[in-house]
Amino acid sequence: MSQVSSTVLLTGDSAVSQAVALLQNGECVALPTETVYGLAADATNVDAVGKIFEAKGRPKNHPLIIHIPDVSHLEKWAKDIPQSAYLLANTFWPGPLTLLLKKADHVDNVVTGGLDTIGLRMPSHPLFLSVLQQLNVGLAAPSANPYKQLSPTIAEQVMVGLGGKIAAVLEGGACEYGLESTIIDLVGDTPRILRAGPIDSDALSLALGITVSTPEEHTEVVPGNVKAHYQPKAQLQILSADQLRTDMHTLAQGNTHFVLWSDSVIEQFKSDVPSAQWSKIPSDALAFGRQLYVTLYQVDKKGVDNIIVEQPPETNEWRAVNDRLSRAAS
Ligand code: TXA
Ligand code: MG
Repeated sequence: MSQVSSTVLLTGDSAVSQAVALLQNGECVALPTETVYGLAADATNVDAVGKIFEAKGRPKNHPLIIHIPDVSHLEKWAKDIPQSAYLLANTFWPGPLTLLLKKADHVDNVVTGGLDTIGLRMPSHPLFLSVLQQLNVGLAAPSANPYKQLSPTIAEQVMVGLGGKIAAVLEGGACEYGLESTIIDLVGDTPRILRAGPIDSDALSLALGITVSTPEEHTEVVPGNVKAHYQPKAQLQILSADQLRTDMHTLAQGNTHFVLWSDSVIEQFKSDVPSAQWSKIPSDALAFGRQLYVTLYQVDKKGVDNIIVEQPPETNEWRAVNDRLSRAAS
């Protein structure tokens, strides 16, 4: 397998056409999506797909999501497609929703990790869409991070994580959502969410007219959907506002960085432990999600031993954030 000695950061007017040319050549290129940066390869080229697993150090049985240029490509990858798939695709695509369907017979096992299902989505980032439209194929793309590490939401983070291992990174700015897509399984009798994400169960249930079950309500285990994931190098802990207020003096003694969102906690930190290292993260769920990985990445870069994040609320709109935080802390 070819080893890429230097990774190019693609910017400017010719960036998309350069990415297209590399992908046509069977190389891996990191592309921006509205969720996180993805490490893309032509999904019809088994050797190219193999390079994704190699660059990430990803176990071979972890299935990949295929990104398609429009809804009409569903039939190229899936079979026995239910009406609910078209309904959801027409409602939420392009956007952060992955549909899990039965895979078409010709799809290689390398892509699906040997499963007979396939994850499909049409991303909304204009640069990714432009690459897809020019290639007019499906692009396999997991998050562009080394296995188990934080998913990257800025190009710099991809360069740091995978530089030297992939052909190029397409600069596309900071990702709009900052958390991976919602995955909904449409293979069984009733639709169920396998991974919480930017589109929540209420929105999906409303679109389908039936109740969609959440990941906590079933026990489906898929390779790749593992408990310890999305991890910074520092130890991560999640503490409630009450615990923080009570123990802030003790907690602030180590090489610890706090990620705080509520005004009352921040005010108390300022007055009681002025020397503590902390940063503020937004207090609404969408903006928190957008900032989460990049905040953890920036804090991690400083080489702290511990990161303590103030526990977010536990309502439905916070489900994706809480899911990622609990995996990062596990
Ligand atoms: O937002 C996203 O979905 C990003 C961007 C790049 O599109 N992609 C992403 O891919 O998060 P990845 O590989 O990091 O996570 C995909 C996860 C797998 O680990 C697995 O849990 C689930 O999706 N998945 C994919 N195909 C599946 C299948 N056939 N059956 C069950 N789960 C599947
Ligand atoms: Mg991932």
